[in-house]
Amino acid sequence: MAKPLIAVRSTLFPRYSLLLPSAGARRSRIAVRSTPCKGLPGAALSGIRAAVPDPQQLEKYLVCNSPDKEWVKRKLLLLLSRDAVIPPFSAPALKLGRATRDENISMEEVARIVEMDPGLAADCIKVASSAGFAARRIASIQQALMLMGMKQIARIAYAMGVMKKFEHLKSKVDWDAFWLHSVLVARLTEKVAGAYRPSTGSEYLAGLLHDCGKLLLEHYFPEDFDAIVIRATERACGHVAVETEFLGITHAQIGAALCDCLQAHIEVIRAVWYHHDPFNTDLGTQPDNSKFLAACVSVADALANYSRTNIFGARIMDENLPFDQLPEWQFLGQYQASYGLELDLDAEVAAAQKDVQAFLS
Ligand SMILES: [Fe+2]
Ligand SMILES: [Fe+2]
Repeated sequence: MAKPLIAVRSTLFPRYSLLLPSAGARRSRIAVRSTPCKGLPGAALSGIRAAVPDPQQLEKYLVCNSPDKEWVKRKLLLLLSRDAVIPPFSAPALKLGRATRDENISMEEVARIVEMDPGLAADCIKVASSAGFAARRIASIQQALMLMGMKQIARIAYAMGVMKKFEHLKSKVDWDAFWLHSVLVARLTEKVAGAYRPSTGSEYLAGLLHDCGKLLLEHYFPEDFDAIVIRATERACGHVAVETEFLGITHAQIGAALCDCLQAHIEVIRAVWYHHDPFNTDLGTQPDNSKFLAACVSVADALANYSRTNIFGARIMDENLPFDQLPEWQFLGQYQASYGLELDLDAEVAAAQKDVQAFLS
């Protein structure tokens, strides 16, 4: 049987079109399966808890190794635990997540769930109408479902839901560029993970939320954030190193705490937490779903940065470094690529642009 191939193409790095054999062919098979969970947009959201997060629960994400930066941690804990800066997802969104994982669910049942939340239904119809699925405006959620399918409806629901949750945090950051990066990483995470395992629904959400910590930083620490962006741009080193130096805490840590507030599934929280460091042994030494998803987000993030789709100061990729030499990509080699991947990066960027236009219009 032919080995599954992994091919990534882009006019942005024409010197090499990547055609990699699946690493799993060389290794013993490692089954990557999602832990079944309750709640969740396909393993993405856990059950409903109290609305106000427990500071002790959040403290584990915000470990700060600089005693002089302890104030940053204290301020974040206060903000996040005070009165839910980011409230959890709505009950219909949680239900929709469960529903779209159920292979036996009917379109009518999904439509009923979406219609439980008039805002959600209106968003789905609006995006379906503007995304070019229909020649004329879509009038009902059933019509949108027929045209787009449940998976696309779920993506729209997550994207609109997530963007609205964070909308009040926006200030000077290039909002469109931030969400374009996030939506692109969401799409790419889904594609990269899809080379290895069937979707659990966590992939899109993990990619969408991976940098959400930057929004909180920018909103509540605006001067520090500006200084971080300037220094990261000057040094061309990415945000993380400068965040650690200036604040003692990174956007990945803050993002994980925010995802906890949203009641995201632990797999999503850990992927966001470790998306710049999927090799971290805190995640355990054995391959598991959290490490796998963190590595997929990390690879997707690198691909997005190759296409220069990000806000200022983000990691600048060396276009002379073949993509298959990236440590995060090589890290994925420990998993069995059962399905292969053919990825046209330019087409993904164009699709993400279209999605963002529809979401933000
Ligand atoms: Fe990041
Ligand atoms: Fe990113």
